[in-house]
Amino acid sequence: MIVNTELENKGNLFPSKIIDFKKDVDTLYFTTENDVILQLTVVRDSVLRFRYTTDGSFKNDFSYAITKYASTGYNKLEIKEDENCYEITTSKLRCEISKESLRVSIYDVKDGVLINQDETGFHWEENYHQGGNIVKMSKVSNDGESYYGLGDKPNHLSLKGKRYTNWVTDSYAYGKDTDPIYKAIPFYTGLHHDKAYGVFFDNTFQTSFDFSAERRNVTSFWAQGGEMNYYFFYGPKMTEVVESYTDLTGKPHLLPPMWALGFHQCKWSYYPETKVKDITATFRKLKIPCDAIYLDIDYMEGFRCFTWNKEYFPDPKRMVKELADDGFKTVAIIDPGIKIDKDYSIFKEALEKDYFCKRADGDYMKGKVWPGECYFPDFTNPEVRDWWSGLFKELISDIGIKGVWNDMNEPAVMEVPNKTFPDDVRHDYDGNPCSHRKAHNVYGMQMARATYQGLKKYSYPKRPFVITRAAYSGTQRYTSTWTGDNVATWEHLWIANIQAQRLAMSGFSFAGSDIGGFAEQPQGELFTRWIQLGIFHPFFRVHSSGDHGDQEPWAFDEDVTDIVRKFIEIRYQLLPYLYTAFWNYVDHGTPLLKSLVLYDQTDVHTHYRTDEFIFGEQILACPVLEPNAKGRRMYVPKGNWYNFWTDEIVKGGKEMWVDADIDSMPIFVKEGAIIPKYPIQQYVGEKEIKEITLDVYYKKGKEESELFSDANDGYDYTKGRYSLRNFSLTGRSSELIINQYKEGKYVTPYETFNIQIHGLPFDIAEIQIDNEAISLKHLKSNGTNSFVVDKNFSELHIIGVKSKP
Ligand code: GLC
Repeated sequence: MIVNTELENKGNLFPSKIIDFKKDVDTLYFTTENDVILQLTVVRDSVLRFRYTTDGSFKNDFSYAITKYASTGYNKLEIKEDENCYEITTSKLRCEISKESLRVSIYDVKDGVLINQDETGFHWEENYHQGGNIVKMSKVSNDGESYYGLGDKPNHLSLKGKRYTNWVTDSYAYGKDTDPIYKAIPFYTGLHHDKAYGVFFDNTFQTSFDFSAERRNVTSFWAQGGEMNYYFFYGPKMTEVVESYTDLTGKPHLLPPMWALGFHQCKWSYYPETKVKDITATFRKLKIPCDAIYLDIDYMEGFRCFTWNKEYFPDPKRMVKELADDGFKTVAIIDPGIKIDKDYSIFKEALEKDYFCKRADGDYMKGKVWPGECYFPDFTNPEVRDWWSGLFKELISDIGIKGVWNDMNEPAVMEVPNKTFPDDVRHDYDGNPCSHRKAHNVYGMQMARATYQGLKKYSYPKRPFVITRAAYSGTQRYTSTWTGDNVATWEHLWIANIQAQRLAMSGFSFAGSDIGGFAEQPQGELFTRWIQLGIFHPFFRVHSSGDHGDQEPWAFDEDVTDIVRKFIEIRYQLLPYLYTAFWNYVDHGTPLLKSLVLYDQTDVHTHYRTDEFIFGEQILACPVLEPNAKGRRMYVPKGNWYNFWTDEIVKGGKEMWVDADIDSMPIFVKEGAIIPKYPIQQYVGEKEIKEITLDVYYKKGKEESELFSDANDGYDYTKGRYSLRNFSLTGRSSELIINQYKEGKYVTPYETFNIQIHGLPFDIAEIQIDNEAISLKHLKSNGTNSFVVDKNFSELHIIGVKSKP
């Protein structure tokens, strides 16, 4: 049931005038004559929480989204009152609350610009049928305002003019206009007058957002139950908004093991063991780097979770060990549905312990999934999560599986019209019992969380790796994700690009698509273009349904294999760069992919671009999305950029044609960047890395770059055993200086840097390392100037003889 926000809708009720005001440290309470209370909490100077009740008291304050590690505290909180409003001022914001209507207006405290304003503001409709309220909020939409975010919506990056719903849904072969799909991330960023703010509507019921679709000047959001409870984040930079949201809902608890950033090969399904071995051996034979191999549902006995089909996999422990000896980490799928089978120990145990979800009248929630009729654990019960996490002992500790893939956790149910549980199913919701209407959107998240707990425990001292399909805000703390059952079409390549960017600006960077398409079969060209995009997605996996032929890098023709290998090799070379970006994501919530609007919101041309994005901090990529293309037009953001392939320097701030035949794609590097690179490996850890290449892109001016290193797995980095190197580059017409600042206690296995300088506008007369000149006899100048230095240099000074003409 979708409810619109039209005022004439008879059922709408509105707050009346404020008659009481109270303050409790950081929280203010405004009570109206008709028992509405607005609870306003100053979370930080730039983060406010708005929570409303309509009956004079609040229910238990509980959220799955908000992390206990969220930053709190402000520098300033001043409250003033005049005859019309209350005025709350922090060091960043001024917030006015109208005494007459409870409407809110929020200003930038420094320049007084109005950032966000209630239109009707909070209003509601009583829900006789279900109980509670349908809670609604409407805000003024400014001229020229743009909106971004909302997780995995497969449509244009800019949300303006559209209406979306959040209700996690199994969406086989979804399309550009399918809504909702797998994720519920009720967070968006608004941008106008070069100021960005965010709204996170922390409500797990079905929520809807209307971005100036129904009414041109209004943006609204509403939920089918629960509270109007939202957080407001102020930037003014969009990256700050995304970082604030990520801080509140949680950064990943841990870095992934580095292998999880390598290439993953998957299919529904590789079996029996000989097939799995055949696939992995072919990777090694063809020298195509690969770190992970997946087992889809057919590894199980009749699709019973935590069992093995002994005919296909007679000795899983041995197989997993042999794969590991060859550098492959085995990832296995685990679904939520537990087969109803009185001889199946997991079913029996969960039944005895009363861990399965039940209907309102006490019957079990019974539904059909791969194994046939199933019951489903209630993952919103902490005791069930503990039990579930314990089930991984054998799979992880004994058999040696390195990662777990949670699927169908929307939860998906087959052969029923709504594809999931009916609304009346009961959930514990961590001691706040409720119906499925409230728990639906977090069910998959809580399953992934329980899986993560298990993996964390049994993978120790290594780091866990989990992947989930369904997610609510905050799921990024525990797991990676993919975008579900897409299709092998060019349009889906466009969608995959948007979804990965959108998830990143919704706090969930560790994401990727089924490369090549899950349903149907790609031609070699589409597969190649998709791999090219995939090397820039934090989660990099080929997966397909298998119904439509093979989808390994060698399943097309030899040219495809060669180009795909070349691109996967680039990914492996860029691993230290990606790992450093991941560190920044884990450390301060910086998204790993930045749509151009995130990169440069001051340039209005970026506001509606969809295809181009920044990978990490300094690499610009743009996939080719059309068949038979020899290149494409793209927008290069302001500044100077080096063409990755030719070192040609282009000046951005305009759209331009970029050549990119099938063996290439548009990739640019920001001038001044220092990009760390590994040698090519067939898998992470294949080689002991003694030297890292630093590709230095000359710039007249300054630029900062970073390199993070640790043991690539394990927990030592959390205790300070990491190495963070900051490189500060300063270029002038006849000199280039690189200063290095080091932090952390980790002693890296690499001893040296191979410096490769691109675009140096002068010939080198002298190189000084920490004020000592080095011999130039080893200097290679085949296009780039390259030389080797000790990793611990403090200052590298390159002095030119004369400017080149
Ligand atoms: C679902 C998943 C897909 C998986 C299949 C079989 O369709 O989305 O990735 O291969 O189930 O487990």
